[in-house]
Amino acid sequence: MGFLPWSIIHLFLLLQLQTLVVLSQNIINGSVPVGESLSASESQQFSSTWRSPSGDFALGFRKIIPNDGFTLSIWFDKIPNKTIVWHAQEVSTTTGLVPAGSKVTLTADRGLVLTDPRGHQHWSSSLPTSSGSVSRGLITDAGKFSLFSQDSKVPLWSSFDHPTDTLLPTQSMEIGKNLSSRLRETNFKKGKFRLHLGDDGNLQLLVLNSKTLADRDVYFPYFKTDTKEPNPGTRLVFNQSGNIYVLRDNSTRVPIKDVPLPSKDVYLRAVLHFDGVFALYSHSKGQVSSNGWELVWVVPENICWSISELAVGTVACGFNSICSLEDTQRPKCQCPERFSLLDANDEYGDCKADFEMQMCGQRNNNTYELIRLDRTNWPYGDYQMYNDYDEERCRNACLDDCFCAAVVFGDDRVCWAKKFPLSYGQRSPNGQNYDTRDSYTLIKVLKGAATDTPSDRYRGKDKDWLIIAGSVLLGTSAFVNFIFLALYGRFKKAKKNPNQGGVIGSATAVELNLRVFTYGELLEATGDFMEELGRGAFGIVYKGFLKLGNDSEVTVAVKKLDRVAQENEKDFKNEVKVIGQIHHKNLVRLIGFCNEGKCRMIVYEFIPHGTLADFLFRRPRPSWEDRRRIAIEIARGILYLHEECTEQIIHCDIKPQNILLDEFYSPRISDFGLAKLLMMNQTHTLTNIRGTKGYVAPEWFRNNPITSKVDVYSYGVMLLETVCCKKAVDLEDEVILIDWAYYCYQNRSLDDLIKDDLEAIDDMVMVERYVKIGIWCIQEEPKMRPNMRHVTQMLEGVAQVHDPPNPFPYSTFSSGPVSCV
Ligand SMILES: *[C@@H]1O[C@H](CO)[C@@H](O)[C@H](O)[C@H]1NC(C)=O
Ligand SMILES: *[C@@H]1O[C@H](CO)[C@@H](O)[C@H](O)[C@H]1NC(C)=O
Ligand SMILES: *[C@@H]1O[C@H](CO)[C@@H](O)[C@H](O)[C@H]1NC(C)=O
Ligand SMILES: *[C@@H]1O[C@H](CO)[C@@H](O)[C@H](O)[C@H]1NC(C)=O
Ligand SMILES: *[C@@H]1O[C@H](CO)[C@@H](O)[C@H](O)[C@H]1NC(C)=O
Ligand SMILES: *[C@@H]1O[C@H](CO)[C@@H](O)[C@H](O)[C@H]1NC(C)=O
Repeated sequence: MGFLPWSIIHLFLLLQLQTLVVLSQNIINGSVPVGESLSASESQQFSSTWRSPSGDFALGFRKIIPNDGFTLSIWFDKIPNKTIVWHAQEVSTTTGLVPAGSKVTLTADRGLVLTDPRGHQHWSSSLPTSSGSVSRGLITDAGKFSLFSQDSKVPLWSSFDHPTDTLLPTQSMEIGKNLSSRLRETNFKKGKFRLHLGDDGNLQLLVLNSKTLADRDVYFPYFKTDTKEPNPGTRLVFNQSGNIYVLRDNSTRVPIKDVPLPSKDVYLRAVLHFDGVFALYSHSKGQVSSNGWELVWVVPENICWSISELAVGTVACGFNSICSLEDTQRPKCQCPERFSLLDANDEYGDCKADFEMQMCGQRNNNTYELIRLDRTNWPYGDYQMYNDYDEERCRNACLDDCFCAAVVFGDDRVCWAKKFPLSYGQRSPNGQNYDTRDSYTLIKVLKGAATDTPSDRYRGKDKDWLIIAGSVLLGTSAFVNFIFLALYGRFKKAKKNPNQGGVIGSATAVELNLRVFTYGELLEATGDFMEELGRGAFGIVYKGFLKLGNDSEVTVAVKKLDRVAQENEKDFKNEVKVIGQIHHKNLVRLIGFCNEGKCRMIVYEFIPHGTLADFLFRRPRPSWEDRRRIAIEIARGILYLHEECTEQIIHCDIKPQNILLDEFYSPRISDFGLAKLLMMNQTHTLTNIRGTKGYVAPEWFRNNPITSKVDVYSYGVMLLETVCCKKAVDLEDEVILIDWAYYCYQNRSLDDLIKDDLEAIDDMVMVERYVKIGIWCIQEEPKMRPNMRHVTQMLEGVAQVHDPPNPFPYSTFSSGPVSCV
């Protein structure tokens, strides 16, 4: 038995080499024949690309980390950061990204076609209708990908003619075309900035004004070359030596910026950043000497000082915000003191006052004061000017005037009164100012209202440890190379074995009705791991169909374990058998496993109604009754694992994503036993942390033994989520649920937790009981937490629930992870 898998691996290795040779024969000198395709794969090693002849550029899929999706792109392939220079734009998904398993195929009729694993088309190269059929694609060392027909040297389509946010040397832009910024550095949807060569030959940087009600987009220019009549610009050229200029119709060149270029052998790119800055960068080609991308020039000179043509709207930062220029010449936006972002996710957006602003017609009883902001100015929006005032008079003028939002006062004794919203705010680090006077701003705020609002209390707190914990966890759950799997996959495509029907009959039955599957059977059952059901700390789960002897099918969930601690096959098998013996109505049933060489997979029954996470966080929210029932049933499942199995099982990763709902919407815990299986010795060094951020008990970060109380902690977090239908960590709203829940409990404002949940509000006594139980479970000190039996009894109303103490009496998180790392 032991010898067989190795010989198979060997065979596959040989086949793999062959496949590689075949691949590189297909793409010669950057030329791609029709019918070739690429797919988006989690493990970067196996996502193939189409490379230009020298290898400087590659086309393929790139994973975009924070959004967990892929973009079809072209990038600099030889530099460490592999900077993207083009991407398939306006992909029809919310993030502009496509899921793993998506594919791009070079077709004869439509050129490049991008489809997701379900076959849904998201993008294609828009070929002119009259064009002949595509015969090949070509990626050049200039970074251009073009499509050609059989008989023409003029491309039918090229990435240079459909630029996104970047221009490369030898690329040019015709009249009417645009570069569009991204929405964010890692969001590939179109943002609000354009570089546009207008019909009049004028090259402009434009910003979208989102506040108009016009039925088409309205843009304001904030930079222009003025290359209009009598000799208008005809195109924007980025020539081989790095000069970027507008070519006039009398052949004169108007450079965007006249600065000397690096003469060395460098890569160059010009990019319209998501914050509106258009910049040229160089990067040395030698890897060793490289400092990364070095800035050559930017336009506009100082984007914080850029004002739209009509001095309305905003450019770099939103209303009431203050812009300062970073060393990178990129803008940074900050709200003034006592103001905060209107949309917490949009740091470049508008700021709103954290207090009630002064209204006219109300008596002004000295309730407002002025705060001084140094080196800060809002150069527009003046409605009143007072000459020859001293600061005192300037202050009083504003305080006594209900319209006044701020005053700017300068050494010339001129006092400018401004109204809301304040626009084009700017702060200069070195005293230099758009307004050449030496001036400062006094902004009006409500007196003494520096409150500790609940939002301040839980907002952002403990974020640091979460980030550290998160990165530790990410580090450990790195996607493992499924070398063997990938090899096998190719092998299977190359040579289909007719005897492999994926029929259970071919599997060997072992004790306890657990089935042993071959890799081939599971590959067949899942259709090459086509449909992903979810992913957890232990691996990815795929949907599969097993054929039964009599032509019927049963749906299963196949989990590819992404790392296995046991070197020993026997240990793996024994552990799986232990899991296979566990039956409880609130646990997912194991059907079998695959244990071939490095292939370790577990096959579960398929649970149809998705995860508890999807159920809880959808809207409208599930009924209070269902949530209570589910909470109790989960507690029973965990209790069974802790106390009623022959050997205690600590789950280590209790969270709503690991709870599935069956056809009766009963919760079923999945992934139990895996922590042990995958980590035989529970020496809890940080690298062994199991679990998921937000649900991880603090003892993982300390030198305390890991006991079943870690599950109680995670259950407590989940119980609070179930009561509130809110996520444990909501990065969007910057809410840490356990902090907030305790805050509300302590302040007797539990109704804040369940706002507009009428059913729960009607059952406030029970809500309070559940929140109290949750708080008991999340006590930092494991000994303080009840065990699962006690939790179940409290939930069921059998045991009394006392008032819980403060769950985080000492601030552990600030010290814990730092000293561990
Ligand atoms: C690839 O390009 C090189 C250099 O231009 C050329 O010498 C070679 O013949 C090309 N190979 C093929 C197969 O076209
Ligand atoms: C370029 O941007 C302008 C807005 O400035 C828009 O009207 C035009 O349709 C865009 N052109 C293309 C080709 O996207
Ligand atoms: C080209 O046109 C520009 C703008 O009208 C003018 O300043 C320049 O002198 C012209 N150059 C030539 C060579 O005609
Ligand atoms: C690029 O443009 C600059 C400025 O017009 C010119 O001096 C240079 O010779 C051009 N380089 C090439 C390779 O055409
Ligand atoms: C690579 O990108 C990261 C993140 O953008 C940046 O911090 C780093 O300096 C870059 N490195 C190089 C060599 O460009
Ligand atoms: C303002 O002062 C008046 C008279 O002194 C008083 O009646 C009123 O309640 C005060 N209003 C506020 C908001 O303090």
